[in-house]
Amino acid sequence: MSESGPSRLTLQSHAKVNLFLEVLGKRPDGYHELETVMQEVSLHDTLTFERIPGGIEIICDNPDIPRDESNLVWKAAALMMRRYPGHGGVRVTIVKRIPLGGGMGGGSSNAAVTLKALGRMWGLGLKKAELENLAAEIGSDAPFFIGGGCALCHGRGEKVTPIRLKKRYWYVLVFPGFAVSTKEVYANLQTYLTTTVRRGTLTYSVNCGTAGGEGEFVPFNRLEGPAFQLHPVLRRVRNTVAAACSDGAMLSGSGSTLFGICETRKEAEQAKIDVDGKVGVITMVVYGSSGPRSRNTT
Ligand code: C5P
Repeated sequence: MSESGPSRLTLQSHAKVNLFLEVLGKRPDGYHELETVMQEVSLHDTLTFERIPGGIEIICDNPDIPRDESNLVWKAAALMMRRYPGHGGVRVTIVKRIPLGGGMGGGSSNAAVTLKALGRMWGLGLKKAELENLAAEIGSDAPFFIGGGCALCHGRGEKVTPIRLKKRYWYVLVFPGFAVSTKEVYANLQTYLTTTVRRGTLTYSVNCGTAGGEGEFVPFNRLEGPAFQLHPVLRRVRNTVAAACSDGAMLSGSGSTLFGICETRKEAEQAKIDVDGKVGVITMVVYGSSGPRSRNTT
């Protein structure tokens, strides 16, 4: 077994919100072509990786998390073991804080962190682009979580261009207590697609050659229509949160999490007080992080 890296590693695995999401069309492979701005937020799971002689073991404090090959952490570990054999196995202990099925990318983030952790523990010296390519084999959202921060993403979401927002925002996350099926939302999308696609101001500045520079964004999510039709309560939650936050509120990804956008921490904390008890089962204040991702916690 190679011992070139640490035998035990603990990393944070952050959630994201989508500040902008437009569907550009349907692809021949059945997926949808997206233009989306993903923003890493301070909410995170904590993953501890330990070398074991062989195999994959997953331990999690949330019994709803699968501990078999259906878990994206398992998929990521199995991919690494296939691609870079001879390093033994891994035990992954997950402290779960990111709600499941909430559109905050928890599973994809955990998978990305697993790729990074094993790369370090096995002393592979993998570059960001190599990790992003591996992550794209796991899922559409996973490559974003290799670099984190804020990024404009295309394709299924796997083509990632890092960007920097002019301002750092604070967010009030509202998880309504139920998961939304991404597949169902996309299946319900057809009537909400228009020929005039929206372009974020941010996208405009990126297209004009300032990619990697600073941008602004216009909050928009094409998936709100189909998600609100499937779960009308989400629209009511969005409106309540929007009334409490100066920069509005929207659905993250395909939901079910709604988030309010605030200019300051103070405003976000007041907004949380205003919406607590009116909506959601979990509300929390988080900030948009700028990366680098997967900070060590030990
Ligand atoms: O990427 P993930 O497996 O979470 O996607 C779940 C489902 O959502 C896919 O099977 C597909 O039906 C739909 N989807 C899509 N276009 C995307 C992402 C997801 O149609 N860009």
